[in-house]
Amino acid sequence: MSIDKEMQDAINEQINAEIYSAYLYLSMSSWFEEKNLVGFSNWMRCQYLEETMHAMKLYNFVNERGGRVVLKPIAGPETEWDSFDGVFTQVAEHEAFVTKLINKLVAIARKLDDYASESFLMWYVDEQVEEEATADEILTRLRMIKGDNNALYTLDTELKSRIPALAVLPTILDQPIA
Ligand SMILES: [Fe+2]
Ligand SMILES: [Fe+2]
Repeated sequence: MSIDKEMQDAINEQINAEIYSAYLYLSMSSWFEEKNLVGFSNWMRCQYLEETMHAMKLYNFVNERGGRVVLKPIAGPETEWDSFDGVFTQVAEHEAFVTKLINKLVAIARKLDDYASESFLMWYVDEQVEEEATADEILTRLRMIKGDNNALYTLDTELKSRIPALAVLPTILDQPIA
């Protein structure tokens, strides 16, 4: 049974939202890059890749269910922030907003008795819990260290070690890991 058009269209909107998220984080990465905060820019690059993966996981699902992915224009992200914690305030707010979008998708799946979509979307429900928690954690730390350059440098060094989730490449290519 192929995917209902209402569900398909709503997932297509979410693909756009995930690619916008990727674009926003890449813009933040570039902002940190200019300030030579290589750990923060690395963290944002990883975020960019993972958001692209979120989009492609939805993309693969629509195709698998016999639907059609239709891509729409991506809005321009912000390019300037006035402080480090200002960046992460936006990350935290953006992730909370995305959680609401995911919850709406689940509500549509339930309304349509589309159990396959509902089950698939649970991955995103869980992922958003993690996304919100990570953003809040970094924001809290930035607020604590405000003005302390040594502490900022320590956090930057810590964020340098982040690597993207292993599923990024297989999901984007829709191929198993070789
Ligand atoms: Fe996402
Ligand atoms: Fe996210």
